[in-house]
Amino acid sequence: MAETARLDDSPAGIARAAALLRAGELVSFPTETVYGLGADAGNDAAVARIFEAKGRPHFNPLIVHLPDVASVHRVAVLEGDALRLADAFWPGPLTLVLPRRDDGGLSFLVSAGLPSVAVRVPDHALARRLLAETGRPVAAPSANPSGRISPTEADHVLAGLDGRIAAVLDGGPCPVGIESTIVGFDPAPVLLRPGGLPPEAIEACLGARLSVPSAGSPVNAPGQLASHYAPRAPVRLGAVAPGPDERLLGFGHVEDAVLNLSPSGDLVEAAANLFRHLHALDADGDAPIAVSPIPDHGLGRAINDRLRRAASPRT
Ligand code: TXA
Ligand code: MG
Repeated sequence: MAETARLDDSPAGIARAAALLRAGELVSFPTETVYGLGADAGNDAAVARIFEAKGRPHFNPLIVHLPDVASVHRVAVLEGDALRLADAFWPGPLTLVLPRRDDGGLSFLVSAGLPSVAVRVPDHALARRLLAETGRPVAAPSANPSGRISPTEADHVLAGLDGRIAAVLDGGPCPVGIESTIVGFDPAPVLLRPGGLPPEAIEACLGARLSVPSAGSPVNAPGQLASHYAPRAPVRLGAVAPGPDERLLGFGHVEDAVLNLSPSGDLVEAAANLFRHLHALDADGDAPIAVSPIPDHGLGRAINDRLRRAASPRT
């Protein structure tokens, strides 16, 4: 493919991005969580190109992005607890796995053959203008090559996918910085992936605890490979201090950190910095990375999930 165009958030930039998506091309766009690699979710060939561009070994199901709740109703069955969560948290960093509508016009490939579809309404003005102008549901995984760190800036997208996608719509850094929280229904709500919406907020809304998927559960999160989000260097977690050859990725008041996720110990700030700092360390050599302990509540659940994947043996 020819060069990847970098488009700005002007009306002309958005119009060009929307036209490319409608023509079946791949366009990366910002959301509040991470940059997505978008394709028309009703176009099988366009969706297939996502897997080709990312070099994904498997057809993992993808998240379908929509500009508002009304357009979600057209592609999926949204009722009961799912509707309560949608009303409370959309637009926002929450993905719901719902039954697909047969007449919703979605490619079967977005669901990887499952009877369900993952949907969300992103809380990002530029993303929503793009989705509204495109007028199509847009399938989008994170815009990184398979197994690499998710992008939170347009430069990260180009570092991984330049020449493999038609365009990137540049909306600056992503404010949340970590992927959406994914909830499925068993029929009770199940936490499929911790993410940018703290699980405690979901539990408070439903007045019920979220379970984690059981082995025999009809819902699970395919594509949640153990090794994922990986920088090239080995990663060691829960490090109180760096070893002699290690680079410390700090959290809170620590000494000798090369980079610090949040010197004041703020989990929101740490989530927003996580992938940016991992990208920077990745670009800066392959000496081992040690990471300070991160509290395992709120957004810390999602941060620790991503760090465990970064630290697990490479597949
Ligand atoms: O924040 C985010 O969620 C970002 C932005 C771009 O929206 N997207 C993202 O997509 O993280 P991706 O492809 O990296 O993660 C999608 C994950 C899949 O790996 C799978 O675990 C789950 O969503 N998923 C998608 N469809 C599903 C389904 N029908 N049933 C169960 N899990 C599903
Ligand atoms: Mg991803």
